[in-house]
Amino acid sequence: MEFLITLIATFLLLLMPAITSSQYLGNNLLTNRKIFQKQETLTSYAVIFDAGSTGTRVHVYHFDQNLDLLHIGNDIEFVDKIKPGLSAYGDNPEQAAKSLIPLLEEAEDVVPEDLHPKTPLRLGATAGLRLLNGDAAEKILQATRNMFSNRSTLNVQRDAVSIIDGTQEGSYMWVTVNYVLGNLGKSFTKSVGVIDLGGGSVQMTYAVSKKTAKNAPKVADGEDPYIKKLVLKGKQYDLYVHSYLRFGKEATRAQVLNATNGSANPCILPGFNGTFTYSGVEYKAFSPSSGSNFDDCKEIILKVLKVNDPCPYPSCTFGGIWNGGGGSGQKKLFVTSAFAYLAEDVGMVEPNKPNSILHPVDFEIEAKRACALNFEDVKSTYPRLTDAKRPYVCMDLLYQHVLLVHGFGLGPRKEITVGEGIQYQNSVVEAAWPLGTAVEAISALPKFKRLMYFI
Ligand SMILES: *[C@@H]1O[C@H](CO)[C@@H](O)[C@H](O)[C@H]1NC(C)=O
Ligand SMILES: *[C@@H]1O[C@H](CO)[C@@H](O)[C@H](O)[C@H]1NC(C)=O
Ligand SMILES: *[C@@H]1O[C@H](CO)[C@@H](O)[C@H](O)[C@H]1NC(C)=O
Ligand SMILES: *[C@@H]1O[C@H](CO)[C@@H](O)[C@H](O)[C@H]1NC(C)=O
Repeated sequence: MEFLITLIATFLLLLMPAITSSQYLGNNLLTNRKIFQKQETLTSYAVIFDAGSTGTRVHVYHFDQNLDLLHIGNDIEFVDKIKPGLSAYGDNPEQAAKSLIPLLEEAEDVVPEDLHPKTPLRLGATAGLRLLNGDAAEKILQATRNMFSNRSTLNVQRDAVSIIDGTQEGSYMWVTVNYVLGNLGKSFTKSVGVIDLGGGSVQMTYAVSKKTAKNAPKVADGEDPYIKKLVLKGKQYDLYVHSYLRFGKEATRAQVLNATNGSANPCILPGFNGTFTYSGVEYKAFSPSSGSNFDDCKEIILKVLKVNDPCPYPSCTFGGIWNGGGGSGQKKLFVTSAFAYLAEDVGMVEPNKPNSILHPVDFEIEAKRACALNFEDVKSTYPRLTDAKRPYVCMDLLYQHVLLVHGFGLGPRKEITVGEGIQYQNSVVEAAWPLGTAVEAISALPKFKRLMYFI
């Protein structure tokens, strides 16, 4: 009896692979479906909402099993936007949340239905919401969280909806840029640093050595540390990331105008007499009778930047802030947002090119030209510049030069890459935080073995 069972078992064992493989070969329909299903589950989607001050955008990304981006239709991502931003609904959080439903539905249509439960959804709110009074911002986020949880079939974790601050924006943007350039998983010395000039703040982010990170100065309680540690494709990176608050493009204009408080300002072009409003405060903006002046304007900007403030560390950028020590992670720099817009507006770079090589001195050369103009001549000299930007073209160009050279200490002739996007395969990927956030969000899925996470 025992022998018979063993015999049958052996026979079955011998037979089994044959049966399986003949079934496999003999049923194309089944085979195809099997392969198809397998491919489907190997790829992943992520849905990221970027809730900015003027509007909200949704990005849908599609990754393969190696964490490389796949096309969605003809494009490298699906993106759409609505206006106004969440902060416009200040006292009506439910309405704010509701305003996102059309974007949510579009994103859900892009993701195959069977993948919805495995598709992370995140919303990051930047500048606009932070300016709301009291708990208005938290109420809007809570209503948005509820709306997503109640309505969406996507994967909404408890921490999916949040305000992201400048240092988070900076680090995710660094991830985006280095992801697109194929640097992740390689030595930090191969990575590219990022300077991001926003409206309210400017962020500097670059990778530093373990030794530098270990010796980084401590910051006061409640402040963001200088170093963020994260793991990407099995490699640990130490990022110097700092958000210089009140040194964004608009915030600096306000400081420069406030420095002359109601009297003539040499950064303003002759022929303009108006006001500039920032964060609810109005500043007078008009030039001295002698016109704008490059040197006088530069002097004010240097004062506003506090380049001569005492430095309690081996080296500082400006305002007594540690500079991160420099090094290989800063050798190559991607310089973006307001730098890229202005360079394009004044024709320093070809329009519609994702990025171009420039040097800090190029901003100085252009500033000298701009600061010699009359306000009436700006339109013909810089036809791409919008009305609202015209009175400040001398100030803005000069500030960008001073920030790079005297603030961040870059050599005037250092090559920097200025742009809004980076070529990736046959597409251009926007150099912004949402893609970096998407990489982190899907890295949390079990099959990616946490390819990226912050420590
Ligand atoms: C959504 O969920 C929240 C809490 O989970 C609940 O208070 C709210 O009533 C729900 N809204 C709808 C429309 O179901
Ligand atoms: C304007 O300048 C004054 C004096 O330097 C300073 O006290 C004030 O805080 C400044 N205001 C703003 C909004 O920067
Ligand atoms: C601006 O100037 C006015 C006088 O013109 C003065 O009263 C006011 O205190 C000044 N403000 C600042 C912030 O320095
Ligand atoms: C600017 O305009 C205001 C009125 O809007 C006027 O009082 C002031 O004198 C003007 N200043 C200059 C320098 O033209």
